[in-house]
Amino acid sequence: MTGVLEGQTALVTGAAQGIGAATARMLAAAGARVVACDLKDPGATVDAIAAGGGRARGAVCDVSEPKAVEALFSEIAAAESALDIAVNAAGILQEAPLLQTTAEDFDRTIAVNLRGSFLVAQGAARAMQGAARGRIVLISSELAYLGRASFSAYCASKAGVVGLTRALARELAPGIQVNAVAPGPVDTPMLALENMSQEWIDAEFDVPLGRIGTPDEIAGTILFLCGPHGGFFTGQTISPNGGAVML
Ligand SMILES: NC(=O)c1ccc[n+]([C@@H]2O[C@H](COP(=O)([O-])OP(=O)(O)OC[C@H]3O[C@@H](n4cnc5c(N)ncnc54)[C@H](O)[C@@H]3O)[C@@H](O)[C@H]2O)c1
Repeated sequence: MTGVLEGQTALVTGAAQGIGAATARMLAAAGARVVACDLKDPGATVDAIAAGGGRARGAVCDVSEPKAVEALFSEIAAAESALDIAVNAAGILQEAPLLQTTAEDFDRTIAVNLRGSFLVAQGAARAMQGAARGRIVLISSELAYLGRASFSAYCASKAGVVGLTRALARELAPGIQVNAVAPGPVDTPMLALENMSQEWIDAEFDVPLGRIGTPDEIAGTILFLCGPHGGFFTGQTISPNGGAVML
């Protein structure tokens, strides 16, 4: 298999399903050797990549836990000659009105979505230090810009990812490029939309293109940021969202 990422190694978290799984598959199809990481067994993603002729192995890690992330990067350092790409697609979505959101709920969302992004970016930056080059992609959401009732912790965590991306892009330039992708609604297990009617989706999401996105459309944006055509991007948050937010 040959492609624009031939010879590179990529870490993708949240790779057991959804956007992370699609990203792991797409980066592998572009030639990268992929470390597919998730809180739960990412075996199905690894198997799908292998079945397509790509190279991948699985890793289990809770991205919100500093020691677990440290162990993940120690294991990568031992097994791989270099780390070229890190994509943090692990994330959680909790819906609760403000008055029913506990401090613990809030902290959990921030811990996974924002602290997880920080820890994975920090580990990746350390791993990329020697080569002084690499690409880091974090996942925000269009809700960082739109806001949404009953998603206060999620919106705050995703707005935090935008700021984190900008700070890290400045700190790690010129060698390491840090960008974020802020998708609109995407058909993944997180949204559990498979039983929803098109009418419900139309009422719930105001999307000029008239549909929600596919995991591959988000993975393609991530591949762009990691590949040769993403070479002049850093500190940016790109929002594939069907036009729901126009930045
Ligand atoms: N689906 C959407 O509409 C949408 C829109 C905007 C942003 N996003 C963001 O994209 C990312 C991927 O979302 P998705 O839709 O694929 O979700 P998903 O729920 O389908 O997949 C998320 C994956 O992350 C893993 N995960 C959760 N907590 C983890 C942890 N602590 N450590 C390691 N792995 C963990 C889960 O096990 C799961 O495999 C998330 O950050 C999400 O917030 C999704």
